[in-house]
Amino acid sequence: MNKNKLTLRIIVFGFLALQYSFIAKAQDTTKYLAKNDTKNQNDMSTINKFEFKPLPYSYDALEPFIDKLTLEIHYGKHHKAYYDNFITAIKGTEMESMDIKDIFRNISKYPMAVRNNGGGYFNHTFYWEGMKASGGGLPTGKLSDAITKSFTSFDEFKKQFSDAGKTRFGSGWAWLCLDDKGNLFICSTPNQDNPLMDIAEKKGIPLLTIDVWEHAYYLKYQNKRPDYIDAFWNVVNWKEVTSRYEAALKSLNIK
Ligand SMILES: [Fe+2]
Repeated sequence: MNKNKLTLRIIVFGFLALQYSFIAKAQDTTKYLAKNDTKNQNDMSTINKFEFKPLPYSYDALEPFIDKLTLEIHYGKHHKAYYDNFITAIKGTEMESMDIKDIFRNISKYPMAVRNNGGGYFNHTFYWEGMKASGGGLPTGKLSDAITKSFTSFDEFKKQFSDAGKTRFGSGWAWLCLDDKGNLFICSTPNQDNPLMDIAEKKGIPLLTIDVWEHAYYLKYQNKRPDYIDAFWNVVNWKEVTSRYEAALKSLNIK
């Protein structure tokens, strides 16, 4: 073999070896990325399962009834803090893979941090989605009939629901719910409790709620909680409440 041929063979061999090394490294990288991608997806599924949903409207959408600054702080600071603290409280526990409603059904066996922050996380999302810009008016269809049947009139329902919010001592929530027999009822819960929790005085499926913590109204209404509650009726999203009612009836197998 002459010198030129030998040199050429060395160059070709070197090139092939280099290429093989690149391919091997690329395969390792792909395997690494795939493995970590799965890990990331698992991590994400935990986070996504309990996601911090965007507010369903702009901060000023509920003006003048609920002001922009209150909504910015209420959603961006208070609600976000409940969410973050809830995620921290369930990290590394069986609750990470549970449905939040199952956590609530067994809330008495979990730490207080889960009850307070899980409640705060869920209740606020439920509250945001029960309101909309240019809301208010009257419920229609089946829900309207059920409200009249249960409370004699819409005005009487409004009064009882408002009173539940006005008379809640300290901080908490007022609720319209469906019991397990398909009957509507009104209740209120302290702090961040809700009617899905096993510790609730009266358990039921929530349909509508109002947050009566001072942080929900103090900037605009100061100590006048009743004025905030009166204003709330202008932003209720009855379409959403109606679909919650229909879904609740379905879950109870009631037509
Ligand atoms: Fe709140």
